[in-house]
Amino acid sequence: MTSSLSLHSLGIGLGTRNSRGEIIEVYYPIVLREPDPSFAASVAAASAYAGGNAVCALAPATVSALVPLAPQSVQDTLRALTAARQDLTVMFIAQDSAPASIPEVYLKLHLLSHRLQKPHSLNLTGAFGVLQNLAWTNQGAIDLADLPARQLQARLQGELLEVMSVDKFPKMSNYVVPKGVRIAHTARVRLGAYIGEGTTIMHEGFVNFNAGTEGPAMVEGRISAGVMVGPGSDLGGGCSTMGTLSGGGTEVISIGRDCLIGANAGLGFPLGDRCIVEAGLYVTAGTKVLLLDKDNQVVGTRKARELSGKSDLLFRRNSVTGAVECKANKTAIALNEELHTHN
Ligand SMILES: CC(C)(COP(=O)(O)OP(=O)(O)OC[C@H]1O[C@@H](n2cnc3c(N)ncnc32)[C@H](O)[C@@H]1OP(=O)(O)O)[C@@H](O)C(=O)NCCC(=O)NCCS
Repeated sequence: MTSSLSLHSLGIGLGTRNSRGEIIEVYYPIVLREPDPSFAASVAAASAYAGGNAVCALAPATVSALVPLAPQSVQDTLRALTAARQDLTVMFIAQDSAPASIPEVYLKLHLLSHRLQKPHSLNLTGAFGVLQNLAWTNQGAIDLADLPARQLQARLQGELLEVMSVDKFPKMSNYVVPKGVRIAHTARVRLGAYIGEGTTIMHEGFVNFNAGTEGPAMVEGRISAGVMVGPGSDLGGGCSTMGTLSGGGTEVISIGRDCLIGANAGLGFPLGDRCIVEAGLYVTAGTKVLLLDKDNQVVGTRKARELSGKSDLLFRRNSVTGAVECKANKTAIALNEELHTHN
């Protein structure tokens, strides 16, 4: 047995299996980024790990011996896992390569939601295809092939099996609730979202996996997969950020700090800092934008993507001519202190 094992990350948790005995999802109460090499080696020895990115089983009876070797911060959780009625699921990630298994994808999604990795910093190539579409119910995740039998079983016991969603991704809050956030409607934030401290997500807000907020933010709009929002920014009610998962969009959208995307507005190119998009205006990457000087005189025309990452801009649709215009933004956006300091 080697006494030292360097890993990218390690997850120890509980998996759900379908009726064929396959793991369909994993909850990792222990998620370690670059775990202590001697603890990793001990877990590897106890779970017959043979190298690479691999999922292994760990008998609860063997866990007690690992507790004193574990980092202090996870010892209580590891001790609690000795009471598991099933083998624990242990995921070893040696290299951050395209995930090949459900436990591997779930560990990466946990790393993001625990803020141990930023969106875009993990290889998630093909993750969507690896995951299974599942029924998320009041009895946990159920393979769709097993669902009719489980529904019948519940009814025969006089109970209702409540199906909350049918999706590849579960809601984040059933796995991770990061410190200092407020989420009005938990079903609208998927596992794998990165929610920065001080973020409030209102009922209309949505955050996909591999996307999120850097710090304090007000989210009443949709943050699509891959989109990152800077601190101090405000996404108004019903606004949209374009994702790259479907629809052919290729621009990876980000929003800088202290921006305001107005209610029902939309964004299809990356914004710099202190920018505003007028309520109701959808600016796509190819939208032709008239540039206005301080006297509202047209001084040029640009495609919005040519303004990517530029700061202090205000975009509006001229309510008289219909043209999309861009001016220097002189208004500083400040989040409502009351709303963000009490998360
Ligand atoms: C774009 C926006 C920021 C402009 O607000 P503002 O800076 O306060 O500007 P004002 O409404 O005071 O307008 C300033 C001038 O521009 C003009 N103007 C504003 N919007 C215009 C438009 N779309 N087309 C033509 N002129 C416009 C105003 O008539 C005014 O003209 P004046 O100087 O001759 O009086 C604002 O309309 C907006 O959309 N805010 C988003 C708010 C929001 O959605 N929050 C989220 C809630 S959930």
